[in-house]
Amino acid sequence: MQGKITRIRSLELNDLDTLFEWYNDHDFSYWISGNWPLITLLRREEFEQKFYDEDNNRYAITDIKGDLIGTIGFDQVNNSARSARLFIGIGQKDLWGQGYGTDSLRTFINYLFNQWNFHRLAVEMWEGNHRALSCYTGLGFIEEGRLRQAYYIDGKYYDGVILGLLKQDYQK
Ligand SMILES: CC(C)(COP(=O)(O)OP(=O)(O)OC[C@H]1O[C@@H](n2cnc3c(N)ncnc32)[C@H](O)[C@@H]1OP(=O)(O)O)[C@@H](O)C(=O)NCCC(=O)NCCS
Repeated sequence: MQGKITRIRSLELNDLDTLFEWYNDHDFSYWISGNWPLITLLRREEFEQKFYDEDNNRYAITDIKGDLIGTIGFDQVNNSARSARLFIGIGQKDLWGQGYGTDSLRTFINYLFNQWNFHRLAVEMWEGNHRALSCYTGLGFIEEGRLRQAYYIDGKYYDGVILGLLKQDYQK
């Protein structure tokens, strides 16, 4: 799938070493969940099982040259309601804040609404992740609720924020 500055393709076995590095990186894990080490205790083969064998709906994000820069995907599919939870991580930290997340999300959301025929997409993050919040709200996601003090990060509690996007609103 082709965006303006990113592409999305299937995840390949060759990508896993890079993903393993990203998911053991302090800053990356901090923004994803506030936790670190997040999955450092997973051995490489366990990581492969979780991220490659079991995670059927995770894709690779590359830049236009084809270099791997992140992953994107969905889980928590509800077939009858045609809804799912979306997730994304730009692992290449020097690219944060340059539009790569927005561009790949826009491409992926189009794909999920138009090809998979989802009706609703949701995302969850901790309230301190302002970059993710701006990125999602810029694409039309609306805050629907808070998980009060659901995250404990560096000695403080933070709310989880749930945002949602309906196909009909996105198409407008
Ligand atoms: C969250 C993430 C996907 C966003 O992608 P990105 O390419 O960095 O973001 P973009 O440049 O497309 O857009 C970021 C938005 O946040 C704003 N922003 C950038 N840096 C920011 C900062 N430090 N604080 C607050 N807002 C910031 C930008 O202005 C932009 O908003 P705008 O379009 O209204 O101007 C990416 O940063 C990432 O993967 N981070 C680490 C993992 C993570 O947080 N994943 C999401 C978990 S829910």
